[in-house]
Amino acid sequence: MGLYKFKKNNGEKVLIYDNMKIKVLIDEKKLRRRVRELGQEITRDYKDRDPVLVSVLRGSFIFIADICREIKIPVTFDFMAVSSYGNSKVSSGIVRITKDLEFSIENKEVIIIEDIVDSGRTLNYLVKNLQARNPKNIEVCALLDKDVPRKTENKVKYKGFDIPNKFVVGYGLDFEEKYRNFPFLGYIENKQ
Ligand code: IMP
Ligand code: MG
Repeated sequence: MGLYKFKKNNGEKVLIYDNMKIKVLIDEKKLRRRVRELGQEITRDYKDRDPVLVSVLRGSFIFIADICREIKIPVTFDFMAVSSYGNSKVSSGIVRITKDLEFSIENKEVIIIEDIVDSGRTLNYLVKNLQARNPKNIEVCALLDKDVPRKTENKVKYKGFDIPNKFVVGYGLDFEEKYRNFPFLGYIENKQ
């Protein structure tokens, strides 16, 4: 294993690692540029509103670290962790809070910072749960919106990228807790 290295394959960047073939979907430069734009939008919209950024561990840790430095107004932070039962690649829709917020959000302007919306069930649950705590307002910022059929309305106001229905890793996202530290967003194409 050891170091990971890219190969060029018909103009595409491919990483062979852990017997997996991982293709780059969004490279570092594109991620950085889009995260900056989202930060600028939030900066504009939330001037004088002192929002609290609520991030969901662990998948969002890199996204929130990057976007918060592109938001040029005072913000505070709080973190939640949720687990959804089921196997590693398919969300079951049953969500359980494993770590709750530290602070009250009553009468606060909340921005949920999410890594990815897949079935939308985690986000739905979160919004409902936080709404019951009487914040002034809740909006959602999600880096990735997966192209899957959903019954629920799309609650994302600040969206980074629409992506195809593939299982993606990197930039905080994992497969069985691995690959979160890839600086790019990739997808596992096949087992070698
Ligand atoms: P949802 O409830 O189906 O929208 O799933 C949301 C959660 O599942 C995300 O916050 C991720 O933690 C995880 N997830 C969904 N799709 C992917 C993926 O493609 N790669 C890695 N994690 C994913
Ligand atoms: Mg996960």
